[in-house]
Amino acid sequence: MKIVVAGTGYVGLVTGACLSHVGHKVTCVDIDENKVEKMKKGISPIYEPGLDQLLKENFEAGRLDFTTDYKNAYKDADVIFIGVGTPEREDGSANLQYVYGVAKQIAESLEKDCLVVVKSTVPIGTNDKIEEYILENLKEKVKVEVASNPEFLSQGTAVKDTLRAKRIVIGVESKEAEGILREVYERFNQPLVVTNRRSAEMIKYASNDFLALKISFINEIANLCEVVGADIEDVATGMSYDDRIGNKFLKAGIGYGGSCFPKDTKALHWLAADHGYELKTVKASIEVNENQKFRMIRKAIQRFDSLKGLKVAVLGLTFKPGTDDLRESPSIPNVRRLIEEGAEVRAYDPVGVDNFKRIYPKDIEYVSAPEDAIRDADVAFVFTEWDEIKQVNLKRYKELMNKPVIYDGRNCYDLDEAVDAGVEYYSVGRKDIIA
Ligand code: UDX
Repeated sequence: MKIVVAGTGYVGLVTGACLSHVGHKVTCVDIDENKVEKMKKGISPIYEPGLDQLLKENFEAGRLDFTTDYKNAYKDADVIFIGVGTPEREDGSANLQYVYGVAKQIAESLEKDCLVVVKSTVPIGTNDKIEEYILENLKEKVKVEVASNPEFLSQGTAVKDTLRAKRIVIGVESKEAEGILREVYERFNQPLVVTNRRSAEMIKYASNDFLALKISFINEIANLCEVVGADIEDVATGMSYDDRIGNKFLKAGIGYGGSCFPKDTKALHWLAADHGYELKTVKASIEVNENQKFRMIRKAIQRFDSLKGLKVAVLGLTFKPGTDDLRESPSIPNVRRLIEEGAEVRAYDPVGVDNFKRIYPKDIEYVSAPEDAIRDADVAFVFTEWDEIKQVNLKRYKELMNKPVIYDGRNCYDLDEAVDAGVEYYSVGRKDIIA
């Protein structure tokens, strides 16, 4: 079976690498020549633990190849996975230009029957339209069917999430397509959910939006905890013993970011509105998250009146630990606000600095250790719960900062530790510690 994967971002590249790892022959197509050359050397264009090794191993074993020559790659493929991005448009809807771009290339290149599998997150009904579009644009008289196969990987654990997925969802309209995808995934030995294309598309959005909603819910409860004198960490622990609730995605903080939750909540909300239905829970999740981002900085502005001229340490830039991705990271609007307020910002992140420099090449001093960010600072903000940051205990903040005032947007530290260290410590959903 010849498998081709279009797009070498998170979804495409991890899919390609993992399919080759279980023994398939896979070609990954990307338009960027430079990227292709790097991947051939086992250098991943994205930061993802374990991916470099997987690329190198499978490339050397002759199972995985990379090319910019899409025509040659697609023409005799049995299965083509589409794993390109579906970014957010201004109005919140999903931008499908890259998906359709690939669909056009496929239609123009195919010389034999092929199953096209859409892995990109696309609005419900898109698979039907892509199939129509490919059939209308075919150059040769071949049989083409489109199937939906959404991806559930998280950044930072993408390889593990794919090789040991909790479930594989396939949305098909024929037994033939189901049979091909069963064969593709045979060696993964994971539960298969087989449904129609529209349900598969919906499973992806509903899963992501449910998780986003869970985070917004716990964040609202955290905000209320602060008002009524309860502790969100204990509350979440108490809730988690109920199997129906579970212990995941109950971590309160300054909101969710990343390439999926913000975009997929808005896209489903938009899609519902387009069908004349208001998706109230998802709308609430979006609103709560927007507000939550600025929770810490609002407290700081209240505490100091003005942040002008203050030396501010920013700890953590990426939207979560384990990735260099800054998409929708709460750090971005917060740093913008700090700069607008006239603060002097010194920032630390173990892997996100190079990407952040593209947004803020000047205006910020970047340092390579958390201690260097907090040294002589008047205020410290924790935006990402990296281990490298959590390892710095609060006594060090006390020693190094001018006057230790800490806003921990990810509840990295115990309140007892804050009391012992004698720092002024504000977190999410817990009582303030005033030294
Ligand atoms: C997510 C989904 O988990 C994945 O299944 C989907 O395919 C893509 O979107 P990802 O964006 O990589 O993956 O990260 P995830 O670990 O889910 O975290 C998303 C955001 O939620 C992060 O900003 C994280 O900090 C935040 N989060 C997560 C919380 O604030 N609290 C939690 O309890 C969990």
